[in-house]
Amino acid sequence: GKKIIITLDGYSSCGKSTLARQMANELNYVFIDSGAMYRAITLYFLRNHINWKDPKEIKKALSEITLEFSYNERSGKSDMLLNDENVEALIRDMLVSENVSEVSALKEVREFAVAQQQQMGKQKGIVMDGRDIGTTVFPHAELKIFVTADPAVRVERRFKELFEKNPAITVEEVKSNLEMRDYIDSNREFSPLRKAADAIELDNSNMTREEQLELALQWAKERM
Ligand code: C5P
Repeated sequence: GKKIIITLDGYSSCGKSTLARQMANELNYVFIDSGAMYRAITLYFLRNHINWKDPKEIKKALSEITLEFSYNERSGKSDMLLNDENVEALIRDMLVSENVSEVSALKEVREFAVAQQQQMGKQKGIVMDGRDIGTTVFPHAELKIFVTADPAVRVERRFKELFEKNPAITVEEVKSNLEMRDYIDSNREFSPLRKAADAIELDNSNMTREEQLELALQWAKERM
């Protein structure tokens, strides 16, 4: 069949990236975690003490940033490179999570990231997950999935993931961070998190990873 563009959007910690990566593996497509790009930009802003209330500073900072994905043989996943440095572990830190929604709401930051994301989809054969992929980045994507899950399920999943790396983390911390990000992401001025009118909703609260993958691949194959 023909190559298509597949988008997965939804709230924080719905398992979008995992599903997107598995779909890309099965279809031999490129997988792009757009959230990793916003996280890397945020890391750069934090490290360099960029005052993101100042558009001039934002523009200068963005002109100094190169983002790239690099396949990691060991993990079988793509690592985020920021100016050639592997920042995959650092961008998952709580400090980045606490600031990423503010940074990703900036107009200049969105324009910077969206232009690169659209470039990556030029040849199609791509699965990209994020918040505005089906609405803004690829409004003409052949398959758009809007992933949802019960908030309690999302907090638990995210907590388990973070606890493995940082046993000091609390459920309350994880919960308030998810709520804050969802709120900012849904209420920002530029491309807020929305379900595209032509997106299929996938509530995975009570689904296994295998069930989700099977269903999503079926939707993809119908469109190829
Ligand atoms: O997907 P992930 O949770 O890693 O994304 C981190 C943050 O990046 C989100 O909370 C959101 O603020 C921002 N983001 C965005 N648009 C996207 C992907 C992520 O604004 N397409």
